[in-house]
Order: sequence, then C-alpha cells, then structure tokens
Amino acid sequence: MPLASPGPASAEISEYRLELKVDFDAGRWLGRVEFEPRGPSRTLDLDSVGLEIRTATVGGRAVDFRLDATEGRLSLPIVGAGETVTIEFAGAVHPGQLIGLYRCRHGEGHLLTAQCEPVGARRIFPCLDRPDRKARIRLRVRTASGLEVVSNTREESATAAGGDLVDHAFPPTPPMATYLFYLGIGRFDRVEAEEGRVAVRVLTPPGRGAAGAYAAASARRILAGFEEYFGIPYPLPKLDLLAVADHAFGAMENWGAITFRDSRLLVETDSESFARRDVFETTAHEIAHQWFGNLVTMETWDDVWLNESFASLMETRLSQRLIPELDPLSDYFLRVSGALAAFDGDSLGSTHPVRAHVARPEEISQIFDEISYGKGCAILGMLEAYLGPERFRRGVSTYLDRFRYANARTEDLWEALGEAGGEPIAAMANPWIDRPGHPVIDAALDGATLRLRQRRYSTLPGAGEEAPWPIPLVLDVDGAPRRTLFTGRELDLEVPRSATVHLNPGAVGFYRVRYEGVLFDRLLGALADRPVTDRFALASDYGSFLFSGDAPWSDYVRLLRALEGANDLLVVDTVTRTLQTLAWLLADAPAVQDEARRYVAERLAAVGLRQRPGEALGTGILRERLASARVRLDEGFARELAELYAEWPRLDPDLRPAVAVARARTGGVAGWNDLRRGLRSSLTEGDAIAFDRGLAWSGTPEQVLATLELIPAGTIPRGHIGVIVAQTAANPAGRTVVWPWLERHLDGIDETFRGSGQLSTLVERLVPLVGLDRPREVRSYFDAHPYPEAIRGLRKGLERLAIYERLRSRHAELFR
Ligand code: BES
Ligand code: ZN
Repeated sequence: MPLASPGPASAEISEYRLELKVDFDAGRWLGRVEFEPRGPSRTLDLDSVGLEIRTATVGGRAVDFRLDATEGRLSLPIVGAGETVTIEFAGAVHPGQLIGLYRCRHGEGHLLTAQCEPVGARRIFPCLDRPDRKARIRLRVRTASGLEVVSNTREESATAAGGDLVDHAFPPTPPMATYLFYLGIGRFDRVEAEEGRVAVRVLTPPGRGAAGAYAAASARRILAGFEEYFGIPYPLPKLDLLAVADHAFGAMENWGAITFRDSRLLVETDSESFARRDVFETTAHEIAHQWFGNLVTMETWDDVWLNESFASLMETRLSQRLIPELDPLSDYFLRVSGALAAFDGDSLGSTHPVRAHVARPEEISQIFDEISYGKGCAILGMLEAYLGPERFRRGVSTYLDRFRYANARTEDLWEALGEAGGEPIAAMANPWIDRPGHPVIDAALDGATLRLRQRRYSTLPGAGEEAPWPIPLVLDVDGAPRRTLFTGRELDLEVPRSATVHLNPGAVGFYRVRYEGVLFDRLLGALADRPVTDRFALASDYGSFLFSGDAPWSDYVRLLRALEGANDLLVVDTVTRTLQTLAWLLADAPAVQDEARRYVAERLAAVGLRQRPGEALGTGILRERLASARVRLDEGFARELAELYAEWPRLDPDLRPAVAVARARTGGVAGWNDLRRGLRSSLTEGDAIAFDRGLAWSGTPEQVLATLELIPAGTIPRGHIGVIVAQTAANPAGRTVVWPWLERHLDGIDETFRGSGQLSTLVERLVPLVGLDRPREVRSYFDAHPYPEAIRGLRKGLERLAIYERLRSRHAELFR
C-alpha cells in the first residue's frame, strides 16, 4: 500500500489529546484525537493510513474531509486559527504485519504492541507523522480489565469505566516526534530496578520475568553511564524495556518504552555468551537514542544516519567501558551492519552516500543499512579519534543541550564539534558522508620515501577518477605513530629505509590499504606482535582484494600463514567469512576448499569443542562461529557433531546452533522431525533460532522444501523468515528447490515485511546465492516483479552476483 510522502507540511500541532478504546481480543480500536493546529494553511493535511475516518469537526462544527487512501492523506478545511479539531476514527490490526499497532505472540496469549518508526504512527491515529513535527501526546486508553497498558509516560490513573472496562490515563509526553509513540497492551511479568530518580522495569511474557534480570541491571548501569557522558539527566521518570516476540527489527527506542525482540532482552541462566553481550549492547544502543534521537531529533529522514550511527558508536564506547570482558570492539566490526559489512557494501557501485536523500516513505526503511549504521559509525569514530575523545564528548553534549526538544541537522553537530575541537570540521567530514564509496591507499617504499597514493576502492572494474578524500591519516612507523591529513592524490613521506610501516593502526580509519613488495613482507613478519585490530585490518583488506583483484590469492595465503596461531575472534571470524564465501563460490577449486577446511578445523581444534575451565568469556562466541562454519563446510565433521544432539538439554548453548545444523544435514527424516519438534517446544528465542536455522540446512531437497513450507504455515517466527530463506539458499541441498519456491512466495513475504525494509535485505542476500545457478531466470523475474521496498537490495544483490560470476569464471587462473 502506498503511503503519504514526507512532503512539506506547514501546519504544526503542539499537543494531541488521544483517546483509544481498544478491543484487545479483536484487535480493533475506536479513536478520537483532538488538537489545535497552528500555522498559515487553510487546509490541514494529516497522515492517515488504513484508518476509517468517521467524523471530523472544527470548532465543534462538522466539516467535509477528504481522504486520499492512495497517498494516505486526510485533508480538512481549517477556518479560524486556534480552533479545536476533533477526529473520530476506527482502526484494526493488520494480520501478519509488524507496523502500527499489531498483534504479537506473547507467552500463551498475545500482546498488542506499537511500532511507529518510521511511518507507523499514522496507522494508529491521524497525525503529522514527520520527525520535525514534535508534539506532546496525552493518551487515554479504555480497554478490558485485567490488562496492563504501557505507553511512553508512567500511567497516572486507572479507573473503572463500567462493564468490565478500565480507563488508563497517561500524563503528556515531552514534545517528541510521532515515530517515538508507544502503546502496548497485555499481561506481563516484570523485574524492577530504580536508578536514582528513574524507575526501570523489564516487562516480559508471563513466566519469564527472571530472564529480564540481566537487562534490568544493565539498563541501570547504562543510564548512569550516559547521564555522565552527555551531562544531561534522562528526562522521564520511568524507562520500560519490553520483550516483544514478533518484532520487525531488533529493538526500537520509543521514548520511555523501548521494545526488543525477545532474544535481545532476555537472558536465561544458561544462555550463550553471545546473548549477554547482545543484550547489553542493544540496550545501550536504544538508551543512547533517548538523548540522541529522542531529545534531539533529525529534522528529516535524510539525516537518519546520524541518529543510527551515533547510537551505534555510543553502544560500542559504553560497552567497551562497562563490559570489556565480552569484547565489544570485535562486535563493532563484525555485527550485522557493522564496519566490516559497511566496507563490503560500500565497495559496490550501487552503494549510497551515508547522508542519503529519501523521497518516499517506502524508501526510508531501506536506508537503515550497513551504510547508515556501520559506515556512518566508522566516520564518527574517525572524527572522535581526530578530535580526541574528550573534545568529541564536549561537542556532543553542547549539541544535545542546544537542540533539546527540537530538531537538528548534521551541520549542527559539525558546528558543535568544531567549537569543541577549536577548528571547523565540516570540510573534512562532509566528503565522507556525502560521497559514495571510500578510498584505498596504495603504499610503496622507494628507498627512504614512502609513496602513498589514494583512489576510490571498487570491487568491479571501471571506476573513473574521483577527487581525493581528506584522510585523517595515522601511520605507525617502526612502532611510533605519525599523524597527517592526507588531502591530495599522492603523498610522499620520509621514513627509514628499513622501516616497517602500518597504515591505519587500530583500524580506526574508513579506508583500505594495499602494501607493495617489501612493505607487505615486513608487515607480515611483524604481525604477530601487533594489536589484534591491526591483524584484522589486513585480514579484512586482503580478503576484499580477492574479489576486487587488487591482490592475488598467493598474498592471501601468505597472510593466513602469518596469522597462524592467532585465535582472536575478530581475526578468525573475518578470515572464516572470506573463506566460507570463496568455498561456497568455488566448489571446484581444490586450493580454496583445502585452505578453508584446514583453517577452520585448526582454529576450532585450538579452541576445543568443549568449554575449558577458566577460559575467557568471549571464547564461547568464537567456538560458536567456528563450529557453525565448519559444520557447513565439512560434511564429515557434521556427521561427528550430530552425535551431540542427544545431549541437547545439557549441551553448551554456544554449540547448539552448529549441532542443530549437523543433525539436519546428516539425520535424514528423523533429524528433520527432531528439529521440527524442537522448534515447536523451544522456550527461548535462542533455541528457536538454532532449530529453524538447522531446518534450513536439511540434507535433501525435499526436506529443504518442507522447511520453506513452514513459513506460509506460520510456524517460523516472522522475525526469522529472512534468515531462514537465506540459509536455505546457501545450503547446497537447496539448490534445485529454493528458487522455484520463492517465485511463488516472494509476494507473500513482501506483504509480511511491509514497511520494515527487511525485504530489501533479503533480496540482497538471496540474489547472489540463487542467481549463480540461474542468472537469467532470476534477473528476468525481478524485471517482471519490481518490489518497491527492495529496490536498493536488488541493485546490490545483482552487482554482487556479477562479481561472483566474474570470479567463478576466472577461478582456474586465479586460485591455484
Ligand atoms: N531505530 C532503530 C529501529 C528501526 C530500524 C526502526 C529501522 C525503523 C526502521 C533501532 O534503534 C535500532 O537501530 N535497532 C537495531 C538494533 C541495534 C542494537 C543496532 C535493530 O533493530 O537491528
Ligand atoms: Zn538505532
């Protein structure tokens, strides 16, 4: 369904008085909203999608309204300024969708819960649904007794309204963007914790309260940490964290009422180590938004990168301070939409600038991607390093204070950072966010001259010359750092003839480096003694060069030898991903197959399959990654590992995902049935994910198909659909069945993902996987079926497909 465009709206509304009568079981509501608009317009255009408008009055007089359902616009004639507008309307949850007010599984029962970002508020009540139209919302909800109602502010009163109904009243929110509105109705268990003036609650499905304890304790530490960092107190008296089983995203920062997908909030006592870090970081990310995003909001969606990148940076910095033992820096690089993914996506011609212009609502969700999160975050990190962390912090704090309860643009942050740093930074910062792509530096040593040259990095040949980037360059020469701003195309620096040089130590800069001749040799020799981030930078850059053709396979193999013995999650995971992709792509390149199997087997042997007493906390994450990779790469290993399935309830949670895949790959029909049963009875989302991913890795086409059929049957949780489909497409046993199935079901998946941007991600992942076997069919399908919500993903997927095709066609010469 098309949505109203975020075009100009001249009117302003400072407060909505909103009353909703909600039929919890039927998922319907009758609503009434009242406000006094300000502004010059003679007509008032409101955003309203999927609502039935019953009456509209202005100053008590009924008026003729026009509802443009295609554009989602409700137009009213306005007579006098300051008159009260009253609109009565009706709405209903849309089965299957995860935006607006929707129904979601919740223990044995259900929950009604809201997701408004980016454009869901207009599906709950008619409003000016744009980030620069901040308003207070004063909410009253009438619903059946025995239900709890949660919103942005703390419930003020609950009074019987006769006939088993209760009226819940909430004090007005602070002035805020409508995309931050929250309403949740249901029955909850809870954990409560006070942090100074702030009442923190974790609300869970009945019976799971205890699993909220870790998040509650973390949230208190995080709130205190940010109050100190920003120098501004959290402005509400309460903060609720809600576990929501069906969630279009991982979590959502509604002011005072943050929602999370279960697995990103709840931690069982035996949860995998990954779960704890993920919960902490997700909580930190969303709490950071309470200031950056909620208190100060981007003026238009074009600046959404700033919102998300900043929260991502804060999530990492605070985690580095408060949970260093869980290795948050690795996650900064490796997470979905982290820096590694950002480099990867930004190497494509179809990338977009960090600051991207969005014209239509269906485009908004599509830019919540690795560029807006990961690249933007890396650029902010680069600026932080350039200014120094304390000046950066002061700039941020000034910005937040200056624009509180209002809107700001990227330029406003640059200005505040410039003031704090004592020099303007826009000229240095803007090229990084306004230009697509990033540079690669070619480094060569000529006697005592280090010659650096920069160009745009690209995985497909044919990129033209582009203006150089202003690179805040840090280089390590024989262990001593040097800094300079590299603004031209070339730069010569004097160094000792025998120097070992590493550019970009700490992997702080958003650029790649290719070393020539002796520079590469010397660096390989010194690698073992350098910090893990430096080994990572090489592993990441040289892995990527295999796809761009900037370095040969033989260089990569030399690098692998130099990395032998390194068991850091960051390095091992990076290498494993590269080898996994290559091995999948080049099934008949023995050199690649051998290297991939050997690397993963050796690293896993070093970690061990079983936990060892006293091992570092992050080891479990490494074990999970390696076991999961090896079980996919190596069927013999899968057969061995499958035996552990019998131990499931006692099994180390870090090993469960790999064991489920092993059972599916090698267990035949009995294996499939085991996992299906497991999925049905799994109590935690972690287990459910292990089971449904396992099912995606079944050993025969018939079983893979049976797994896919669980999607329309409603057995696969909606939030897992994207991953499951992508996993079946990566599974060699799925080769013949996945694409024909998709041709019949993509329309339905599109419907389920409406408004969430997930279709774009899915198409991006799928196209190179399924397209390699049948490029023409896949291309012509998407020609005939353009999905507006997947335009970006399709473009990127097709480009990756072209890269893979080129590599595959040349593998005999390239990978010997
Ligand atoms: N604001 C986003 C959620 C969101 C994303 C809403 C896209 C609408 C469109 C939230 O702050 C977020 O970034 N969530 C992440 C998790 C976070 C820890 C990176 C997510 O959902 O993946
Ligand atoms: Zn966010």
